[in-house]
Amino acid sequence: MTTLVAVQGDITAQTTDVIVNAANNAMRGGGGVDGAIHRAGGPEILRDCIARFPNGLATGDAGWTTGGALAARWVVHTVGPNHGAGQRDRGLLESCYRRSLEVAGELGARSVAFPLISAGVYAWPREEAITVAIDTIARTSTPVEEVRLVARDDSTHRKIASALRMSTSVRILQGVRELHRRGYHTLRVRPGVAPSGLYWRAVLIDDAHPDDHPIHYTSGDEARFAGGTVDAMSTPHEVAELIRGALPHLEATNDAPGYAAWFAGLLAATETEHDLPVAFAEYFDDTDGWEIGWGSGLRYPKPPR
Ligand code: APR
Repeated sequence: MTTLVAVQGDITAQTTDVIVNAANNAMRGGGGVDGAIHRAGGPEILRDCIARFPNGLATGDAGWTTGGALAARWVVHTVGPNHGAGQRDRGLLESCYRRSLEVAGELGARSVAFPLISAGVYAWPREEAITVAIDTIARTSTPVEEVRLVARDDSTHRKIASALRMSTSVRILQGVRELHRRGYHTLRVRPGVAPSGLYWRAVLIDDAHPDDHPIHYTSGDEARFAGGTVDAMSTPHEVAELIRGALPHLEATNDAPGYAAWFAGLLAATETEHDLPVAFAEYFDDTDGWEIGWGSGLRYPKPPR
């Protein structure tokens, strides 16, 4: 079981087995995290970089060196795509997290601290850099038990913490999509915002058994959902099983492919916009459809009848 947490602080001060460096292809140090790690870890790290990476390191790849004078035993260096220089392949950024966890796992590391790769000098848009980090770490099978996403500045830390909180809501919607894929098309979702405007809510019902108790979720409950817990690391399968446990009469009827396709489109818009769907709220008018992000003005057509 791997946990993922947001930490505010200096990455060089993390007491994890591995600290991940946001390096460059040359692998001879630099600014930002790279500079901080070489300064705090001392010349041993650079000596190891030269010995182990005589030809540098490819973008998206990862490799380890000693942690030198750092509390961490190892540094796993990875090279993010340089958004500012036109390297916009999200797959390369995903690869940084996946390869770094692979290398850390091979070392036997149990805890890893990541900075937000490519989100500094390499100018990757911060919201997307955060989503890529969380979703890639969540999808990567690894023996690493604790993963930290470390941000030095308050604003980035708050955005990472908020994205982690929101990931419970996104994982719930992904669990619904998983069940639709398995043919449970009578599973319906009605998402909205609490009258206070502070919390996102979702009601999940079995349309074929309206007398069954629906599942109510509010983001005020954080990771508590349907008698279990859902967080960034939960898989769609795990969430689907919680939903099926709470809606015992749900059956795979395969009878509303149009609704399932509509919902898949809604979820895709949610994932692209990094914001949640709203079908009801105080003074909400859904004549133009549902909204992706309360107050965003971005509308998505209402569900088919
Ligand atoms: N601790 C935690 N986070 C930090 C620290 C630190 N000491 N220093 C910077 N950060 C944050 C930045 O604010 C940014 O959000 O880490 C993220 C990554 O920033 P960079 O270090 O600039 O890394 P990146 O954007 O991947 O650019 C890599 O910059 O430093 C050079 O040699 C490096 O050429 C490479 C490029």
